[in-house]
Amino acid sequence: MLEIAGLQVAYGAIRAVRDVSLTLAEGELVTLLGANGAGKSSTLMCIAGALPAAAGAIRLEGQDVTAARPEVMARRGVATVPETRDVFPDLTVDENLQLGAYTRRNDTKGVAEDRTRMFGMFPVLAERSSQPAGTLSGGEQQMLVIARAMMSRPRILLLDEPSLGLAPTIVNRIFEMIATLKGSGLTILLVEQNASKALEVADRAYVMRLGKIEAEGTAAEIAAATDLKALYLAG
Ligand SMILES: Nc1ncnc2c1ncn2[C@@H]1O[C@H](COP(=O)(O)OP(=O)(O)OP(=O)(O)O)[C@@H](O)[C@H]1O
Ligand SMILES: [Mg+2]
Repeated sequence: MLEIAGLQVAYGAIRAVRDVSLTLAEGELVTLLGANGAGKSSTLMCIAGALPAAAGAIRLEGQDVTAARPEVMARRGVATVPETRDVFPDLTVDENLQLGAYTRRNDTKGVAEDRTRMFGMFPVLAERSSQPAGTLSGGEQQMLVIARAMMSRPRILLLDEPSLGLAPTIVNRIFEMIATLKGSGLTILLVEQNASKALEVADRAYVMRLGKIEAEGTAAEIAAATDLKALYLAG
């Protein structure tokens, strides 16, 4: 569904992504692991169209989208949840969700169905639907940004460090949600530093270090790789 070949991303003279090739098949949950500064977010934001590629190619269902703008990627079914976890704090939970569906706002019935589905999947959001999003806890805000992204009915979800800074019990709930979304047939690219949790839900994994893919395999293979910890410490 998604194919990245020899991707490079630079910030001026800083080459954040030096060589990333990866694939994502329909219905797969693939995780991109790596230490701080490995280049995971830069890779994700480049796929989303929010950062230009300095070299390499991004193909979506066989079509070149290397230079596609974020709105084009969104229209083609790629939803992105950046690590900044930005809700609209003064708008209610419900209004935040509705904004996620703005590209299909004329589909009143479909949007209402998706809203019901999201509230069913994330009951805490239903409980707090008329509360300003800024009053939610970090974990609830993470659920809201994922639910908001789902309101565009994406076919691929790009998730950047959904567990960052959250308490272990909340992290478990976020990962349960991710597993539920995968169960619904969604294709997911999950960027994580929490390798053990990510490998529990992922089909396959890539490990990034200093802008390059250093290891890849099934989640079980990567989890069993004895040098995984060393790889992280080295990052
Ligand atoms: N806006 C920017 N300007 C300059 N350098 C940047 C910028 N954003 C990221 N970098 C650098 O690019 C490299 C990769 O950063 P990136 O954020 O992609 O890594 P990451 O793997 O997502 O890290 P983290 O786990 O901390 O989120 C780092 O060396 C970082 O300092
Ligand atoms: Mg990052």
